[in-house]
Amino acid sequence: MHMKNDFRQKLHLEPVSGWLNDPNGLCFFKGEYHVYFQYSPDSAEGNGIKCWGHWKSPDLLHWRFTGTVLFPDTPDDRDGVYSGCGFVKEDTLYLFYTGNVKEEGDHDYITSGRGANVILVTTKDGHNMSGKRVLLRNTDYPEYCSCHVRDPKVWEENGRYRMVLGARTLDNKGCVLYYRSDDLINWEFEEELRTPNSGYMWECPDEFMLGGHRYLSISPQGLPHEKYFSQNVYSSGYLDVNKGVYTEWDKGFDFYAPQTFEAPDGRRILIGWEGIGDIPYTNPTTSLGWQHCLTIPRELSSGKNGLIMQYPVRELEKLRTDSSPIKSGETVKTELPFEFVGKTGRNFTIILEDILKLEYREDEFSLTFVSDSAGYGRDVRRAKLTECSDVRIIADTSSVEVYLNGGETVMSARMYPADTSAAFSVNGLSGTIYKLDGMEMISDE
Ligand code: FRU
Repeated sequence: MHMKNDFRQKLHLEPVSGWLNDPNGLCFFKGEYHVYFQYSPDSAEGNGIKCWGHWKSPDLLHWRFTGTVLFPDTPDDRDGVYSGCGFVKEDTLYLFYTGNVKEEGDHDYITSGRGANVILVTTKDGHNMSGKRVLLRNTDYPEYCSCHVRDPKVWEENGRYRMVLGARTLDNKGCVLYYRSDDLINWEFEEELRTPNSGYMWECPDEFMLGGHRYLSISPQGLPHEKYFSQNVYSSGYLDVNKGVYTEWDKGFDFYAPQTFEAPDGRRILIGWEGIGDIPYTNPTTSLGWQHCLTIPRELSSGKNGLIMQYPVRELEKLRTDSSPIKSGETVKTELPFEFVGKTGRNFTIILEDILKLEYREDEFSLTFVSDSAGYGRDVRRAKLTECSDVRIIADTSSVEVYLNGGETVMSARMYPADTSAAFSVNGLSGTIYKLDGMEMISDE
């Protein structure tokens, strides 16, 4: 039986129509998870006005889209409600974001012509917003910064509040700026952090502690491209701040601008944009009226040598229905979405017929599109791995997330097979295939 694929996903948050990019304002507030996102409701190509859309969920499985909650409707954010964060204090959710302003005239919009205001709104229910208050303007940033300063992330540390902003200096170096505050309103510049040879701009910073390490997540632009590193147009990874070591979050084709938050049980959860700007490949949903999705929420934990492990939140296991074993050398018919969990030998090959080949050979793992009719310009992505002991695959109707070695290495990609059934075969490993129920995704609009 062949079921035509409409590309509508079952396990990934995506807009009904329009364009999505970064996750914003992630938090748990008044008994619910809140996921805001960069949203252009009127343009799947991404050149419409930038707003914040809003989903919420009691359990990360049942989601409700409550609508577009922040619009670029003041002089201080008239060209875009850009990325930002959520901070919960008592009965109020504080949302900090960048108000993007483009002046009329002859500007390059890098060294002149752009306003980047840190703006605060508050909400008591996650949906209805207070008025907007500008907290920082370009004149509050160090004078060596270009106009590109944005994406505030706020947290509490030792009884004070801290904010980190991504920035580009006038001599084209990526860095972050730290500010501190006692009241969430008045912010004072603290310090700057940059590392050598790290590109011209750092977007979407996020700082957090995990297993006694301080990490700074950044999305750098302008890193040189190598065989196993920075394979995409822009990179995204975490700095182990004390060691100064940068590790990419995801080695696949479609991942950028992640943000983390703390769940009520103390888990640190990461959600990324399963997409990137300025890509040389395409997404065929654009002509159907929407483009892009978020990744599955991932629990973070400490691995060896300061590495961070990412694994799909455990809630997702509740969506497993039938399970069936598969042995090396076997092929089974699967229906998207499905999950595969396997233990591997030394070398292995996994094939999703006419779509993808996942292969581990000679210290290299690769994800290859075997036909352009599913990849839309995506070809191959690689990771250098001295061993690969286990593989977990979550295949949705138009994306795949691959977790290797317990989530030490992850690869995410959009894929667009023409129908939802595919032959799945494994060689050099065995495991279990699970059928998956979809998440509930309701829209108030
Ligand atoms: C990252 C980014 C952010 C910015 C937002 C605008 O993808 O460029 O730096 O705030 O997208 O949509």
